[in-house]
This record gives sequence, structure tokens and C-alpha cells, in this order.
Amino acid sequence: IPVQPFDLVLFGATGDLARRKILPGLYHRFTVGQMPPEARIIGSARSKMDAAGFREKVRAALEEFTPAADRNEEQVDGFLDRLDYVSVDASGKGGWKELAAALRPDVVRAFYLSVSPSLFSGIAARLHDSGLATADSRIVVEKPFGHDLNSAQELNAGLRANFEEHQIYRIDHYLGKETVQNLMALRFANSLFEPLWNATHIDHVQITVAETIGVDGRGAYYDGSGAMRDMIQNHLVQLLCLTAMESPSKFTPNAVRDEKVKVIQALDPVEPSDIVRGQYRADDGGDGYCDHVGNPDSRTESFVAMKVHVSNWRWAGTPFYLRTGKKLRARESEIAVVFRDPPHTIFPNVGRLRGNVLVIRLQPDEGITLRTTIKDPGPGGLRLTEVSLDMSFAEALGADSRPQDAYERLVMDVIRGDQTLFMRGDEVEAAWAWVDPVIQSWADSGDRPAKYDAGSSGPEDALMLMHRDGRRWREIG
Ligand code: BG6
Repeated sequence: IPVQPFDLVLFGATGDLARRKILPGLYHRFTVGQMPPEARIIGSARSKMDAAGFREKVRAALEEFTPAADRNEEQVDGFLDRLDYVSVDASGKGGWKELAAALRPDVVRAFYLSVSPSLFSGIAARLHDSGLATADSRIVVEKPFGHDLNSAQELNAGLRANFEEHQIYRIDHYLGKETVQNLMALRFANSLFEPLWNATHIDHVQITVAETIGVDGRGAYYDGSGAMRDMIQNHLVQLLCLTAMESPSKFTPNAVRDEKVKVIQALDPVEPSDIVRGQYRADDGGDGYCDHVGNPDSRTESFVAMKVHVSNWRWAGTPFYLRTGKKLRARESEIAVVFRDPPHTIFPNVGRLRGNVLVIRLQPDEGITLRTTIKDPGPGGLRLTEVSLDMSFAEALGADSRPQDAYERLVMDVIRGDQTLFMRGDEVEAAWAWVDPVIQSWADSGDRPAKYDAGSSGPEDALMLMHRDGRRWREIG
């Protein structure tokens, strides 16, 4: 279904994210007919260029970042026809009049700030002061949304001085992932799971986002950030919220976000003994991370594992274990809901029966798996074995349904005016208020993160975090 006609102004249009994700995502939406003929994308950056020059840059980006099978010349040309370019000095005066002249009345206006957060407030003010932003315009901002609670509050204040909360779209691209939304469908569109979705039946939950890439090429940003700010504060907290939240009364942006905020507010402060941070070293034992960020003495973590308690009626006594890291053995993200063991065994000589595990796989091979115990087939005595009921979305839904990339979905939601999959200001601040003390305690202690080998599953201590509770992490890879 096509969205309404729009003018999308993309600040930072020549930047990495625009080239890799946003423009290829828009191209895909164009190819499936979701963009009406009147839709236009106006690239904007400091570089002086004309529209033709910008189109050639975008053509090159599409060649690099979209699969060859998704490209044909006619479609690429059709998409490029929708593009325009205006050079704007985001922190100065130049270009704003020209930008105003390029925009049309009576279409949805969205301003996508794919730029450094230090420019958010200034751009928001200029959009407002120069009359470019209307009461219905949307403003979209990328992470990192702040460095801590104070800076997030400042960013919120800067945006809200010129835009209403219902116009502000804070991106967490994990919320645009297919399986993340499927988690809500699984929980709230089926009657099977929700009655069991509580501490009475669930022993613990493991949320893992493991990556194989390191931080080469983005060391300057990453070394000032670390896994806690880069991944836990946003992506993993969002996954935790969607897993732990109560059912919203309706599927509306504020009903969903109200429930997520309540989960963050119910998080206990993290005990130092419940958190392990690590830093990868190269396979040969050298300082892999430190080399990559060019800081031999870096204490920044590229790995975090932690045990988290959601202190409310539903979850008291059921811990959530979160784990994320760079340069791990495999790229694998999942939410594993581990049910309690059966209370009693009627079968002789089988030992302890293990609980069911429901795994929601985010990537790769998105799908859902349920570990069950069945009778081992064949003659002889009754023996038991574990088998997984496995559903891969790609197989279940057929090859035609190319999953949308997170950015494709999110940009179209902006045009539609649907904020459900975007973070509200209070939500971001609540998450910072929870992680800030942990980061502060690391700075105060002066301790170093534990080293782990590139290609491993993280530091030994992370294994211990679970072992001491009589539990174990699921294997990575
Ligand atoms: C980004 C982080 O938000 O998410 C990166 O800044 C990380 O460090 C990336 O690599 C992971 O996203 P995805 O979609 O590849 O899992």
C-alpha cells in the first residue's frame, strides 16, 4: 500500500549510514511500489553538488549496498528521478532558503537527521525558525541519543524546544527488525504463550547479540562509548522490554511505549558482581581492540554480560541475562526463554528432565524454535531425546517475501506517522538513568575489562556469571 506523498529531507545524505542503509532502504520501498509518484527525497549535506552529482553518488551507493538481483536499470533510474539535492550548512546560515524553496506545501514533510547528535538541536531550531517545519512535520534522529542521562536530557530539550513529542522519531533500528515485531505478535496474538509468560513457569531469559565484526574504522566513536552505551542502553534494553512488558491494551504508539517504560523503571540497580565486561584481543594474543582504536591503554569494553532483575509481580525470581560483544565466534542474535524443568519425572533412568526453551532468532535466519523432549524413536525401552520444533520465517513465508530491512520499515513508518517502533523521550532517559551508575562505577573502580580472544564466546568470567546460578549460556555459533 503506497504511503502519502512526501518530501523527505535527508541531512547527512553523503554519510555512511545514508549510503549503506537509508537510501538502499528507500530504493527497496520504491521497487515494491510503496512510494507514490509524488514522493521526493532531498539530500542535504555541506558539500556543494547539484542534483545530478548527488544522483550519481546514490547510484554508486545502490551498486555497493543492494544485492544485484534487486537492481535493474529502469528501476534505479526511476528512483534517482525522485532525488534532489540542496547544500546546507547545518550549523550556519547557508542553504536554508534554498531548502525552503525546494519543499512543497500539502505533502508530508520529514527531516531525517543522519548527522552527529551535536547538530540535532541546532538543526531543529533552524528548521523551526526558517518556517520549514510545519505542525505536522516529522523529525527523525539517529543514535547515539546522548552519552548519559544529562546529555540525553539536553538533546530532548533541544528537540522539544521546536518540535512536539508526537513529531519526534528516535530510531533504534532493532525495533525495525522483523523478528522483534514478531515477538509482540507471538506474545499477544496467540493464546498459548502468555499464560506461561511469568516467573512461575520461566526459569530465566537469555538475550544475546553476538557480532563477529570488531571496531576497526570507527574506533574514535567506539572507544568513547563501549558496549554498554553502544548496545545495552538501547538495543538490548529494547529487547528486554518487549520480552518482559505487560500486554498494552491496544497496539498504539503510546500504549506500547508506556508498557516498555514501566519495565525499565522496574529494573533493579545492577550489582557489580552481576556484570562482566570484556575487551577482545587478537588471535595471536596481541591487543586487538586497543590496536583498532589506537589507544594502548583503553579500558573501554567491547563485551558485556549481565544479570538483570525486573522487580515486579510477573518477573520476581526470574533473572534476565544479557550478553553482547564484538569479535565473537559467530554473528547471532536471539532471545531464549528457558522454561522451568518438569517438576517430576515418571520415566525411569532418564535423570533430570530439562525445561522447554523457546528461542526467538533475530539474525541470521530469523525464526522461532521450541526445544521439546520426545521419545527416542525405535524399538527397545522408552528413551527420551530432545528435538526442536523449528520455524524459519524465510521457509514458512516463501522465498517471495524478502524480509524488509529495519530502516526500510522505519522510514515508511515515519511517513505514515506511526511512532510505535520509535523510542519516546522518557524511555531513552529511563534507560540512561539505569545504565549510568554502572558506567560510573567502572570509572570509579579503575578496573580493566577482562581480555577475551577474538573468535571466542567472551571472557571466562561471563560463563561463571551463569554457572554460579547453576545455569549455562547457550552456545554462540
Ligand atoms: C549499532 C551499533 O547500533 O548496531 C554497532 O552502533 C553494531 O556497534 C550495530 O554493530 C549492530 O546492528 P545489526 O543490525 O548489525 O545487529
